[in-house]
Amino acid sequence: MLELRFLTKNDESTFRAAVDEFKLHNPDWEFAFHFSDSMKFEDYCDLLRNQSEGRDLRGFVPNSYMGAFLNGKCVGRASIRYELNDMLSAIGGHIGYGVIPSQRGKGYAREILRLALEHLKARNLNRALVTCSDHNVASIRTIEANGGILENKISRAGSNELTRRYWFNL
Ligand SMILES: CC(C)(COP(=O)(O)OP(=O)(O)OC[C@H]1O[C@@H](n2cnc3c(N)ncnc32)[C@H](O)[C@@H]1OP(=O)(O)O)[C@@H](O)C(=O)NCCC(=O)NCCS
Repeated sequence: MLELRFLTKNDESTFRAAVDEFKLHNPDWEFAFHFSDSMKFEDYCDLLRNQSEGRDLRGFVPNSYMGAFLNGKCVGRASIRYELNDMLSAIGGHIGYGVIPSQRGKGYAREILRLALEHLKARNLNRALVTCSDHNVASIRTIEANGGILENKISRAGSNELTRRYWFNL
């Protein structure tokens, strides 16, 4: 069963492997916010815990960054934002997710998004915004399979790529 949870120091090797795999295949997509290879993993876990409690935000809104684990292996992640700023209201949304390339097409993104929506509901949010590129077929299907309702498509500043904005009633 897929588990969405905070990182612990025992996850270091599987998380680093996931970061490396993602970097190789999707260099433009940030899998691990605020993470660097040279960082002590325990410090990274502490930073993520702090951010979920509204401390050391480094320009972010309060958020929980969680790993998606299957039998101890990190197969993906979710970044769950508890509020929206201007950028998140337009293109980022409440939840961002990714699945490592070798584990795609197995339904994990669909499950990660479901669990992340449950997490927001438990935090008393009654609506959640999730966005994706108009070209990202897998993400569109992930969102629609979880019941997202398309509000609109907007263009990103400096790009002709459209972003789809979907709402969920929690
Ligand atoms: C988008 C992403 C998270 C999908 O992860 P995944 O685990 O492969 O997705 P799932 O297996 O849960 O599949 C979800 C749906 O997409 C479909 N799908 C998966 N890969 C697909 C592909 N390459 N092309 C078309 N559809 C695809 C699945 O069939 C499924 O649809 P269904 O429920 O109608 O059958 C993954 O490709 C990824 O991490 N991409 C890079 C980061 C990213 O784009 N994140 C989303 C930001 S909005």
